[in-house]
Amino acid sequence: MIQGPEPEATRRSAGITESSRASRGWWDRNADDYQIEHGDFLGDDRFVWGPEGLDEAEAGLLGPAAGLKGQAVLEIGAGAAQCSRWLAARGALPVALDLSRRQLQHARRIDQEPGRAPLPLVQADAGFLPFADASFDLACSAYGALPFVADTARVQREVRRVLRPGGRWVFSVTHPVRWAFPDEPGPEGLTAVSSYFDRTPYVEQDDRGLAVYVEHHRTLGDRVREIAAAGLRLVDLVEPEWPRWNEQEWGGWSPLRGRLLPGTAIFVCVAE
Ligand SMILES: C[S@@+](CC[C@H](N)C(=O)[O-])C[C@H]1O[C@@H](n2cnc3c(N)ncnc32)[C@H](O)[C@@H]1O
Repeated sequence: MIQGPEPEATRRSAGITESSRASRGWWDRNADDYQIEHGDFLGDDRFVWGPEGLDEAEAGLLGPAAGLKGQAVLEIGAGAAQCSRWLAARGALPVALDLSRRQLQHARRIDQEPGRAPLPLVQADAGFLPFADASFDLACSAYGALPFVADTARVQREVRRVLRPGGRWVFSVTHPVRWAFPDEPGPEGLTAVSSYFDRTPYVEQDDRGLAVYVEHHRTLGDRVREIAAAGLRLVDLVEPEWPRWNEQEWGGWSPLRGRLLPGTAIFVCVAE
């Protein structure tokens, strides 16, 4: 956690380098708490798309599970690589990429449990993928990187570059409509207080004015345009409904809000 005074929350511009540095620091400092708080919900080897609990085993957004065998998969913003572990169990060949060393250390911790095989882990920024063109059959991301990256169009181009033609790219992010509402799980999170159209990033900064946490907003239209401009084709947009069984809050995601508003958007794309 940040030592010293509480960071100040503000709305201001934040470029590629500042956003990346802030995210790396924030996730390194908060990885332990994140895994303690959410590790059970995520499961060590499940593929959960977001706080609603939509599971790839039921959703099949990557295509039929039987078709995953032998597929080279890049997971972006993998955290402790829970999704990559699910993919490996189905015979896929995942590479788990994340900006945060501490998140990847949690991946390694889980992999060191008896009976598990170590996954390939790569520490890198989603905007600068350290792979040759057309190296992967599939790419995926469950809330990894995209909400925190300044140049999301660049990430889409990078993913397109490393995918083989016809390869799928499936990613989940906070549903864009949430931007207009306070990030609160209770009734105060049900009243729109800011503009959905205002792309000014949400920034938490320290007493020197340096960003320590950044979130970037794209409208639904922005995301679709970035996908198309990168040479990807959008084939589905999934908005998971809040299921009755899920009574768990996750930050600003809650059963109360989830029954009224979408919380997650999952974009299913194919490389042209
Ligand atoms: C909300 S977590 C999601 C992780 C995992 N998919 C899960 O569901 O727990 C977001 C992850 O994105 C990573 N991340 C943030 N910015 C990134 C960037 N620019 N490039 C790569 N990973 C990034 C963070 O380190 C963090 O592990």
